[in-house]
Amino acid sequence: MQRINVKASTDYEVVIGAGLLDKSGSLIREVCPKATKALIVSDTNVAPLYMDRVKSSLLSEGFAVYESVFEAGEERKNIDSIIAMWAKMAEEGFTRTDMVVALGGGVTGDMAGFAAASFLRGIRVAQLPTSLLAMVDASIGGKTGIDLPQGKNQVGAFHQPSIVIVDTDCLKTLPEETFTEGMGEVIKYAYIMDTDLYGILKNVSDKKNIRDDSMIIEVIIAKCASDKAYVIEIDENDNGLRQTLNFGHTVGHVIERDNNFTLAHGMCVAKGMGIMIRASEKAGRLGCSEAKEMLDLIEAYGLPSDDPITPEEATKGVLNDKKKRGDIISVILVTSIGKSEIVKMTPDEFKTFLKEGKDQ
Ligand SMILES: NC(=O)c1ccc[n+]([C@@H]2O[C@H](COP(=O)([O-])OP(=O)(O)OC[C@H]3O[C@@H](n4cnc5c(N)ncnc54)[C@H](O)[C@@H]3O)[C@@H](O)[C@H]2O)c1
Ligand SMILES: [Zn+2]
Repeated sequence: MQRINVKASTDYEVVIGAGLLDKSGSLIREVCPKATKALIVSDTNVAPLYMDRVKSSLLSEGFAVYESVFEAGEERKNIDSIIAMWAKMAEEGFTRTDMVVALGGGVTGDMAGFAAASFLRGIRVAQLPTSLLAMVDASIGGKTGIDLPQGKNQVGAFHQPSIVIVDTDCLKTLPEETFTEGMGEVIKYAYIMDTDLYGILKNVSDKKNIRDDSMIIEVIIAKCASDKAYVIEIDENDNGLRQTLNFGHTVGHVIERDNNFTLAHGMCVAKGMGIMIRASEKAGRLGCSEAKEMLDLIEAYGLPSDDPITPEEATKGVLNDKKKRGDIISVILVTSIGKSEIVKMTPDEFKTFLKEGKDQ
């Protein structure tokens, strides 16, 4: 079991290990001694697998436990699901000292976090991520929210959890593709800030079956969690360093939207990273052999590293994205493995930069 400290507006721990769901009650009790009621939020895929274990662990610590289960999928990341959570808590007489427990992937964590951030102007939330993406990224850092028909994550709040409990055994039931796309985010940490993690990922002998190696998985998740914790500590509110976590996401989001969200997020991030790596190499900002190594690693983990999107389409899409500030695009570049920088480009500069990468 590993414990990682996150120093944010409120400090908390990320606890990582096999079988932790059965200890979730006592781990939560340690940090929320006054809570008497807990609402477990989960989706229709995860609840049948893990709800009972979390429920009995919370019951054994004296919590009164309630459930709010929504139909799995990003389509349900909307206000109707949040209203159902608020209503349940209101009906059951939840007070400011009671809490929400998020049991599921990033959709569950974002919504449960937002319901907790807004109910009675903010109650506590514990994050129990069950997808790889949620374990290494979404559950840590306090970004919560929902989608609007106009765009993803358009409404939300910063609301740090009281604890993050990662039971690595949950990965065993994750669909293959969902696991693989999570590896896109893992590789991202290696590239932007973590040469140790890069070394570990590179040395795994059977990369396609990495999830069968529970020791390595625990180490990797702990590395990613401490990387994210480091970033949050410096830039909780996403004004600087935290933007480097968007490596591969700027173009990745456009690919995701242009495909009407039929491609998995992590796949699109991998494509976006590949496109940026090629363009950086061509622009002389990244060494040729390093760029090749980076592209090879993405593919070795079963992820795509390119997409037919044109520089024109990518630039147009980025300008529609909420992350642009004015007409200047913040582009995250990796200048050598483990080092990244934020470069400001005009739309024309960005288009030219991407074009060079495509002309290879
Ligand atoms: N808050 C943040 O900082 C942050 C960061 C990155 C992504 N996100 C958000 O996270 C969401 C994507 O997360 P996701 O990929 O986990 O999506 P998700 O929650 O929809 O989970 C993916 C699928 O896997 C299933 N699943 C999850 N765990 C499982 C398990 N252990 N066994 C079997 N099935 C399981 C889910 O039911 C779902 O069908 C997006 O909405 C994104 O905006 C948030
Ligand atoms: Zn992402």
